[in-house]
Amino acid sequence: MSLDCLFSRSRHFAGKRLHLGICGSVACYRLTDVLRALRLMDVHVSVTLTAGARQFVTPLLFEALGAMPVYGEMFAPGEDPFAHLEPGQHAQAMLVAPASADALSRLAQGAASDMLSAQALAFEGPLLLAPAMNPRMWRHPATQANVATLRERGARLILPDCGRAACGDEGQGRLAPVEELFWHALRALSPQDMAGRRVLVTLGPTREPWDGVRYWSNPSSGQMGGALALAAWLRGAEVTAVCGPGCPALPSEIRRTEVLTARDMFAAAAEVWPDMHLGCFTAAVADFSPEPYGPDKFKKEGAQDGFSVRFLTNPDILATLSARRLPGQKTLGFAAETAPDMEALMALARAKRARKDADLLAGNRVNGEGSGFGSPTNSMAVTDRNGHEEIWPQQAKSDVAWELLSWLLRL
Ligand code: C5P
Repeated sequence: MSLDCLFSRSRHFAGKRLHLGICGSVACYRLTDVLRALRLMDVHVSVTLTAGARQFVTPLLFEALGAMPVYGEMFAPGEDPFAHLEPGQHAQAMLVAPASADALSRLAQGAASDMLSAQALAFEGPLLLAPAMNPRMWRHPATQANVATLRERGARLILPDCGRAACGDEGQGRLAPVEELFWHALRALSPQDMAGRRVLVTLGPTREPWDGVRYWSNPSSGQMGGALALAAWLRGAEVTAVCGPGCPALPSEIRRTEVLTARDMFAAAAEVWPDMHLGCFTAAVADFSPEPYGPDKFKKEGAQDGFSVRFLTNPDILATLSARRLPGQKTLGFAAETAPDMEALMALARAKRARKDADLLAGNRVNGEGSGFGSPTNSMAVTDRNGHEEIWPQQAKSDVAWELLSWLLRL
């Protein structure tokens, strides 16, 4: 599985340090994906393999993928005598995944009898635990009590998934998806400067049905809105995402509503808007919908010389919800334009911001190289309600999202 998604090109994590504790579980090979994704972003990752983990995977595998160092036994020859203290001195976050029932027990007890427990005991930063075990072991009151103790002390749990375990038993116990581990690791390395904020994001295209089999839409991939939703969540916000069809996967902690049409998107966004602090209206909403032909398929036999379809105007979500702003609420809009250059794009963005009364408006060129629909990067012309304007060269959508949120927070 590839983790080349949404945030893998972000430059905000370069030089950050994560310690990864890996326990003995069939799922431990899946951490190689997380390690690779973090290394691609230049996150420094150190690893501890418990004795159990070393039965499944070797230190060499993680070293070859860029982990440095890979710790083993506490009193092994050649091991630094203070290795059990090092993650506590250098790492900004620690992720234990897969966290076995035994590891949870040792961590809850405050044991220091092996390298991983000792390192966790000497670690004062955010501790993430992603348990994986047999479903009966997971639901045992002893395990649940250990989890409750660890939670009380501030550890964050990435809960196991339900399904069929390697042993064949069904139930909760499978390691959470690697994307969740990756996102939670990034969150633990992010500033929590949006904690306490509620953020609405609309994203993706809308799909306006015409007859029983055809619809009107556009090629939006939802990447820009996905990057905004993810960036806000990474920075501690509570995020509601109203997604058109085909949008990217997002952390399960993000409240996600799936819609098809512009009218459904409007209804879903309007319902939650009064409760929000920030609204990011990133969706490529269809401005018009074809007047419905009906539930049956339109037959081409009757239309040899072509035919006309009447289009009806859809509500403008950004303009309507900007007009309904409560004190303190702020809106961010986008403008996908076919402008000849960035100056022309800025003029269009400026006019659109004023017309829709958004606090901030980000224009991007859909005809530019490395910009617009489906591209992982964007070049932007950004303008705010105070007349402040900036042109940003091509950068990853995740970085665009990060900067736009910082700008909204400053407004
Ligand atoms: O007018 P235009 O479609 O170019 O405006 C783009 C901006 O307005 C985007 O932020 C888009 O999400 C928002 N919009 C909307 N509802 C519409 C049309 C656009 O929220 N019906």
